[in-house]
Amino acid sequence: MAPSLMQRLESLKDLPPMPSTMQLVLKEMESISANSKSLEKIIMQDPVLAARILKVANSPYYGTAGQVNSISHAITILGFDEVRNLVIGLSLVQAFGEGSDFKDFSTKDLWLHSMGVATSSMLIAKAAGNGFDPEECFTMGLLHDIGRFVLCKVFKEDMDKILEIQEAQQCSLTEAEEQQGLNHCEIGAFLAQKWQLSDQTMSVVRYHHHPRSAGEDEPLCAVVYLADQLCHKLKLGWSRWQPKGVMLPKSLPLQKEDVQDLAKDIKKKKDVLEQSWEEAMGG
Ligand SMILES: [Fe+2]
Ligand SMILES: [Fe+2]
Repeated sequence: MAPSLMQRLESLKDLPPMPSTMQLVLKEMESISANSKSLEKIIMQDPVLAARILKVANSPYYGTAGQVNSISHAITILGFDEVRNLVIGLSLVQAFGEGSDFKDFSTKDLWLHSMGVATSSMLIAKAAGNGFDPEECFTMGLLHDIGRFVLCKVFKEDMDKILEIQEAQQCSLTEAEEQQGLNHCEIGAFLAQKWQLSDQTMSVVRYHHHPRSAGEDEPLCAVVYLADQLCHKLKLGWSRWQPKGVMLPKSLPLQKEDVQDLAKDIKKKKDVLEQSWEEAMGG
């Protein structure tokens, strides 16, 4: 009998540890939200990260080529929120690496998808108002597909098969995963538990395709569910899968018109995200 997914996960020796920068950023989220000094301190502790942030700030996109030499200047140029979000995203890259490209599928696009869903989740939380924390939603959006990074890094042969199945059957990647006996939501939830992420994060990782199964975390999962659909629809980052329409979950206090406005806002952010990410990841 083939080993179950749980048995396969339990037997893995090389699941990546949680990156130290990410630990710091998540721990100090509140003070980071409040001041740029603590953000600067975190970046300065990580030379690779610092170099990447400077590279983005010096990119032609911002018209500053070669003029930005310090992190504090970079924060002024890019804006505090952009830098903080970039730091959280890049810290996750440390855990999974940049490489592992497959036929027609690159992890770089998956990163961009994660940053897109993170940014969109933040915008949705702002639009939904009371009870939704935009910073928290950003992090949840960023982490929602961590199971897919594990698939790309640790289950490479399975991932090749999954991509083959998807292409042959023109089904969604999630359906192809199921046929291969793997599911990125379950795999992600396993890693979230190993990394001791919050219960809410575990819920989002596990239920972002089925928010109604998430019990009391349904609204939070619904934010990421909507963000995920919008990013696929707008082709922000990886988008082998195209939803026919965008489903607005009932648990969100939003109307159809709000979703249209959100789509416009996300579209505006698309360029900045793609350019910054291109620079940060080495072009
Ligand atoms: Fe997903
Ligand atoms: Fe996703």
